[in-house]
Amino acid sequence: MKTLSWFATLGLAMALPAHADRLPLPADAPPSYQAECGTCHLPYPPALLTATDWKRVMGALDRHYGDNATLDEPTRREIAAFLLRHAATHNSMAANSNPPRLTSSEWFRREHRRVPESSWKDPDVKSSANCGGCHTKAEAGSFRESEIVLPTSRRRL
Ligand code: HEC
Ligand code: HEC
Repeated sequence: MKTLSWFATLGLAMALPAHADRLPLPADAPPSYQAECGTCHLPYPPALLTATDWKRVMGALDRHYGDNATLDEPTRREIAAFLLRHAATHNSMAANSNPPRLTSSEWFRREHRRVPESSWKDPDVKSSANCGGCHTKAEAGSFRESEIVLPTSRRRL
């Protein structure tokens, strides 16, 4: 029994690096990803959602979180293939919401458990999906702790 649980712990540790503060876009990202999925918000790191979730996102672009993000079919396929190649394999990154939000995963909740409720609601942040509201280098794929600026320290109501 002891050995078994030790292996289980090791497996979890390997699948989830303690520090996931560098999430640059993979080198094989097609230019269409930045161009089509990086205009309304950050081109989210593909590794933060599972393949099942990405399929759901890419299969309903006409009903995209209240927006219409429809693409021509070749571009949709190209982006979907890229996202699936780099999708998370660990269950803790599965979305717990419909439509699927990476901000609803167990992993995201755990990483952000120390963020005060008021910070998510701050007018400068507006939404947890607005990564750049706190991660000042998010556009460059960097989420290091030293680069985080919580909005409540900038602003008083
Ligand atoms: C026309 C604008 C627009 C385009 C283009 C767009 N999105 Fe979005 N997306 C949104 C909006 C609005 C939200 C909801 C943001 C919020 O809740 O603050 C969203 C949310 C998301 C979320 C969930 C974020 C979370 O965890 O809350 C994912 C994943 C996502 N988009 C992926 C994509 C992908 C992939 C593409 C390209 C195929 C794309 N988006 C293109 C507007 C857009
Ligand atoms: C309201 C501010 C805020 C928003 C918005 C936010 N984060 Fe964070 N994030 C933080 C804070 C604060 C931490 C550090 C938590 C800690 O150290 O306890 C963190 C930690 C992280 C980490 C872990 C970094 C490490 O050192 O391992 C990642 C990755 C991350 N965030 C990604 C994201 C992504 C992707 C988004 C957008 C979908 C996002 N965050 C939105 C505040 C925010």
